[in-house]
Amino acid sequence: LNNLKGKDFLTLADFSTEEILALLDLAIELKAGKGPQKPLAGKTLGMIFQKSSTRTRVSFEVGMLQLGGHPLFLSNNDIQLGRGETIYDTAKVLSRYVDAIMIRAHGHEQVEELAKHADIPVINGLTDTYHPCQALADLQTILEHKGRLKGLKVAYIGDGNNVAHSLMIGCAKVGIDVAIATPAGYEPDAKIVERAKLIAQAHGSSVVVTNDPVEAAKNADVLYTDVWASMGQEAEQEKRVKDFAGYQIDSQLCSHAKPDFIFLHCLPAHRGEEVSAEVIDGPNSVIFDEAENRLHAQKAIMVACLS
Ligand code: CP
Ligand code: NVA
Repeated sequence: LNNLKGKDFLTLADFSTEEILALLDLAIELKAGKGPQKPLAGKTLGMIFQKSSTRTRVSFEVGMLQLGGHPLFLSNNDIQLGRGETIYDTAKVLSRYVDAIMIRAHGHEQVEELAKHADIPVINGLTDTYHPCQALADLQTILEHKGRLKGLKVAYIGDGNNVAHSLMIGCAKVGIDVAIATPAGYEPDAKIVERAKLIAQAHGSSVVVTNDPVEAAKNADVLYTDVWASMGQEAEQEKRVKDFAGYQIDSQLCSHAKPDFIFLHCLPAHRGEEVSAEVIDGPNSVIFDEAENRLHAQKAIMVACLS
């Protein structure tokens, strides 16, 4: 992990399998209360939020404190970025004050631009295209519950956007077969699918994109879904509920997965839309372990990139 020092964390595609597995080891070590004590003493993390957040905000803030550092919550409404100050100037100025920046933004290119001009590591806390911190925590959760990663099958059923993209890349990197089922018109980005397929090929696994939820769920070790209308798509809510009919993860769909499957959801969730209450609150659901692991996975990222 030594060579991650100073590196940005924008997408898992930028990291080798060995680096991802090492981050997972460190996350599990930190979760057990082992590992370096207060490795970020005296360090500061600026956290820019252009969208709402419960898990990302609280887990980064608490994680930074537990590592001995200090987090600063920077709401887009309160900093000058929200009034039109450029990303370039924001990057340059924050680089003179803090040791790293976490940003939750709309366009992924905004985060890339921030990272390009900042002299400090930038961590992606979700864009419209990627959610790599989530995917790392998801892999940690799968590893903890299944005891392995390589050779498993993950099925994602729902909207083919940020969470699906990062899950696809993360799974491909560690040799998990991944199947994504979406309604027509909501497929994942074709370029990202291509990239994930190439990565999967190199690790002996596969990436399948389909419009058939049953095909995806068949024999899966993990069933995963996310909201049908993401942040910024509130106006499309009604149309999306119609378009996604038949894509709910309910008991019927779960019957196609392995009997000991686990259910994951990045949260927040809408019971009765993308998942039935019976499934998300049922015995196979490990959503709160998953949410907890955001804390441990992100602490591992911060230790690796900052200490
Ligand atoms: N899963 C996730 O990123 O949750 P928040 O939007 O609450 O941060
Ligand atoms: N796809 C969701 C994920 C939230 C964590 C969104 O972008 O709103």
